[in-house]
Amino acid sequence: MSTRTARAHGDTAGPSRIVIGVTGGIAAYKSAIVARLLMKAGHDVRIVPTASALKMVGESTFAALSGHPIHTTVWDDPEAVEHVRVGVEADLLVIAPATANTIAKLAYGIADNLLTATALVATCPIIIAPAMHTQMWNHPATQANIATLQERGVTVLEPTEGRLTGADSGVGRLPEPEHIVQAALGLLTEQDLDGQRYVISAGGTREPIDPVRFLGNRSTGRFGVALALAAAHRGAVVDLVACNVDEALRPHHPLITIHEAGTALELQEKMLELAPGAQALIMTAAVADFRPAKMTGSKVKKGRKAPDVELVENPDILKGLAADRSHGAFVVGFAAETGDEQGTVLDYGRAKAQAKGADLLIVNRVGETAGFGDVDTTITILDSSGEIRAEHTGTKSQMAGVVIDTIFSVRKGV
Ligand code: CTP
Repeated sequence: MSTRTARAHGDTAGPSRIVIGVTGGIAAYKSAIVARLLMKAGHDVRIVPTASALKMVGESTFAALSGHPIHTTVWDDPEAVEHVRVGVEADLLVIAPATANTIAKLAYGIADNLLTATALVATCPIIIAPAMHTQMWNHPATQANIATLQERGVTVLEPTEGRLTGADSGVGRLPEPEHIVQAALGLLTEQDLDGQRYVISAGGTREPIDPVRFLGNRSTGRFGVALALAAAHRGAVVDLVACNVDEALRPHHPLITIHEAGTALELQEKMLELAPGAQALIMTAAVADFRPAKMTGSKVKKGRKAPDVELVENPDILKGLAADRSHGAFVVGFAAETGDEQGTVLDYGRAKAQAKGADLLIVNRVGETAGFGDVDTTITILDSSGEIRAEHTGTKSQMAGVVIDTIFSVRKGV
């Protein structure tokens, strides 16, 4: 099981054959999104659900999505010896969600359905994304089975914390489909960032007015998280400075360490602390340009005179990191721009690239598409002189890959 090594970088250009195993968890529907994103990344996807998975998601959904017939047992089409063919031909097997039951079968080599039989035949890398109730996940039997699979080289994506089936919540949720996809693509990718450390800020700062209110912005941190995963999947150690990033969006990857920063000043302090010795500093966080001059110790009450909130300017963290190069790292900024009657997105991007002095500025054209979820958006990557180094339209994880590629090639002087 899982004895084949990751493929070389050049091999990733062509489509890979990816088998998605789906087992009977409440999150089975998310496997449809995983399948769609992997197909969007240009790969041939085959879905092998268990019989219980088909109680959650219909066979025709999986068949229509993947364009391949769906079988659950080796008896559905015995002449084709489906498990051997699918297992041998696979470049990657992703099991998401993986229930405690299927994990136990994989650990013991039980092959009582098409998925577990395929897993026994497969020699390609295997990723499993467990999803189950917290108690089942924490049970020593499950943990021992997970350890067995990891010893055999299976990549285990840790379940995240959050809402589970019914009213329960805790550790046991399936990671976001985008995370699963990036991990999958990572196993098909060369580890060309091995030995490097990237510091990436994500989310949006919140500047307190009083103990319950703040000045903030709508940035979720998705793009920063996608970049952190893209870098980690290529072997980089990543320090992710999370500014108010929702628990459900946070990545779970052994190479990613999450640091917290709430305000612009806290973010600046963290970036300066983590910068020395890093190879790249990437500022995707939306930083509030101003903060209240003082935070009141108690909640501002209504019914009195409306308060005047005096604002003071926050430091420009990116500009500072680009100006003082004692850290030795490559500096990358991010700008979400719209065009208007005074200039195009690119005009504003170029002006910002020059003003900030970063080595690269990623300009995200907002407003042309909705820009939410996996809807395609466009980025243009400018160097400090305003020269276009890359342009790409795609999902956030595809864009993250392009950014990491561009940093890699510009640093190497290609
Ligand atoms: N940035 C920063 N510190 C600030 C403001 C922004 O480090 N105080 C960084 C952001 O993380 C991003 C880049 O600068 O990488 C551009 O942020 P943006 O908000 O677009 O630029 P501003 O300088 O705030 O300019 P404006 O809001 O006027 O467009």
